[in-house]
Amino acid sequence: MNETLERWQSRRAFILAVTGAAVGLGNIWRFPYMTGENGGSAFLLLYIVFVLLLGLPMMMAEIMIGRAGRRSPMQALAYLAAEASVSPRWRWVGLFGAVTVFFILSFYSVVSGWSIEYLVDAVNGSFVDRSPQQIGASFDAFLADPLRMTFNHTLFMLLTMSVVAAGVANGLEKLNNVMMPLLYLILLVLGGYAVTTAGFGEAMRWLFTPNLAAIDWSVVLNAMGHAFFTLAVGACALMAYGAYMPDDQSLPRAVFAVALLDIAVALLSGIAIFSVVFTHGMDPTEGPGLMFVTLPIAFSELPGGQVWLGAFFLLLLVATWTSSINLAEPMVAMLVAAGWRRGRAAALVGALVWGVGLLSVLSFSTLAEVHWIGEMNFFALVSTIPPDIFLPVGGLLIAIFAAWRMPVEAAASAFGGSPAGFRLWQILVRFVSIPLTAVVLLSGLL
Ligand code: PFF
Repeated sequence: MNETLERWQSRRAFILAVTGAAVGLGNIWRFPYMTGENGGSAFLLLYIVFVLLLGLPMMMAEIMIGRAGRRSPMQALAYLAAEASVSPRWRWVGLFGAVTVFFILSFYSVVSGWSIEYLVDAVNGSFVDRSPQQIGASFDAFLADPLRMTFNHTLFMLLTMSVVAAGVANGLEKLNNVMMPLLYLILLVLGGYAVTTAGFGEAMRWLFTPNLAAIDWSVVLNAMGHAFFTLAVGACALMAYGAYMPDDQSLPRAVFAVALLDIAVALLSGIAIFSVVFTHGMDPTEGPGLMFVTLPIAFSELPGGQVWLGAFFLLLLVATWTSSINLAEPMVAMLVAAGWRRGRAAALVGALVWGVGLLSVLSFSTLAEVHWIGEMNFFALVSTIPPDIFLPVGGLLIAIFAAWRMPVEAAASAFGGSPAGFRLWQILVRFVSIPLTAVVLLSGLL
């Protein structure tokens, strides 16, 4: 198949699309509860180090392959492997990415569905004058209701796949343009509110006082996985977006901005959420429900809280929507490359992901106690193994290909920065990112 001629409409459009992929549940939902479950500041520190040393250089590697290959991920890899006269088997990294995003999207859609439920609840005023206990209890009741969860999961999958069916670049950019800055604004307001709460000081201490004693291999492995997850790296999903990147844009500058923004969003939501946790004597290790219980409490204490809450869930929904579109893209691109019509490919992928997602829905009720590995039920399994293991493995392979296998001239021109910058990237990926990821993966698994 030939090179794609499609391009993002502007430089800004590419940055917005990558930001849209990066900022999502990972920052606002997963980061706080993972931090809570993994010892607070220890996790935070490792996460930031991994974003800068692994996530960022590997994000560049992944986008470079897409940009140099200008094809869907599997084909871009096959094309560049042929150019470099290395094994055509590198293309299987693209398939592995598709498997990874398949499982991630299956639970991502279920949790995004929770935002739909909460958006409707906020608009209906369901949280007005509720105590923190009542808010917690209504979340538990929602989780125990598979029909309501399935309804929201279905709606979210339809939202996602209808955009993917139409072709990624259309429309999405415009939506991003307006909605993302509003989300950051609301998070800033939340951060401002957090400062006024009684638990703010304790939250800041808990997040920022170094606590190296809390670090063990599972914390390291989880922090590394989260760095990949939050930046959307390791599943060839950004590779698919790189294929549409304009020729004259500098990659390092674009992705650096995205990574900083991504960290900022996570920090702001972490500060807001843990201020509420400590103000109300709640448990930081509460797990996946953390955000859905704390934020309604926070907003109910703000003047005009219901309006803020509704706006927040609406914007969160847009943020998760743009991430899930990115998650779906590599699978659909793969089928399209194999000759499928885009609409059909989107329908098939959507239906399969939806079906597997039902297992996650039921993991909060009927299948809660069905354990697949150790203590993990299906939801725990898919929300842990693909992000924390598959993404780093994929990222590792992508980085090896970009730094050691693909033709250096093609890599340098896809990098798009200065020659010295490219050299720095090459040294960092070859001698820091690749070995460090391999060591953490092996040590965490053994
Ligand atoms: N980065 C997204 C988030 O933080 O919510 C999740 C994600 C998107 C992970 C795309 C992986 C991916 F390929």
